[in-house]
Amino acid sequence: MADAIITIKDVNKFYGSGNAKQQVLHDINLKIFEGEFISIVGTSGSGKTTLLNIIGGLDRRYEGSCTVDGKSVEKLNEKKLSRLRNETLGFVFQNFNLMEHLTAWENVALSSHFTGTNIESGKEFERASEVLARVGLKDKILSQPANLSGGQKQRVAIARALFNKPRILLCDEPTGNLDSKTGEDVIQLFRDLNRQDKITLLVITHEDRVSKATDRSVHIEDGKIISVNSKDAPVK
Ligand SMILES: Nc1ncnc2c1ncn2[C@@H]1O[C@H](COP(=O)(O)OP(=O)(O)OP(=O)(O)O)[C@@H](O)[C@H]1O
Ligand SMILES: [Mg+2]
Repeated sequence: MADAIITIKDVNKFYGSGNAKQQVLHDINLKIFEGEFISIVGTSGSGKTTLLNIIGGLDRRYEGSCTVDGKSVEKLNEKKLSRLRNETLGFVFQNFNLMEHLTAWENVALSSHFTGTNIESGKEFERASEVLARVGLKDKILSQPANLSGGQKQRVAIARALFNKPRILLCDEPTGNLDSKTGEDVIQLFRDLNRQDKITLLVITHEDRVSKATDRSVHIEDGKIISVNSKDAPVK
């Protein structure tokens, strides 16, 4: 079996303090294996985004440990944490988060401009074109978001997440704003990135068709993992 690329051990997460203290994650234990395509499902408020933020190093105020690509997220200094976020992880969100006045390629290359990149200086346009072609947008490199459909905008956002050659993509409701056909295409793209490009993919969703497309589906309710279903061996 492949090695775990993400290990979450005994994670508890609280919001607020005093009387307002609320526990939103309870004793979460989960291993995600290299090359997996895994989904996290659960009703609104069940703790999915909270868990993703912990894995992505965006929230480090929790109890327990979270190891990503061999590094304990809670122990890294800011510099090492941003290196992990920029070089190992890619993020995709429901709302695309594109800059309206920039072209597709500028959107793809922009964040790396601020956060550092693996890409050789002067090669940003080349790399942006390459990832845009990978997501099927070769002819939209110079288009601005206003001239793109919802599905195309999400593909630009996925290309942006791929820019730095991440090993893991973390996606929070990536098809939440897309119609079903467009959502289907994005799921197919994720499957290709997983199978062909060997990227480990973690997708939060409340859509059955998305979770069914993944190898394993983790069901969270009230901050607890209540079941894990895998395609080969369903576990109750
Ligand atoms: N910054 C915060 N401060 C206080 N409570 C929060 C904060 N963020 C989330 N919560 C609470 O933590 C719980 C889990 O929220 P979370 O955003 O992880 O849910 P979710 O499963 O992603 O929901 P959705 O499907 O609606 O996105 C909820 O009860 C929410 O109200
Ligand atoms: Mg959420």
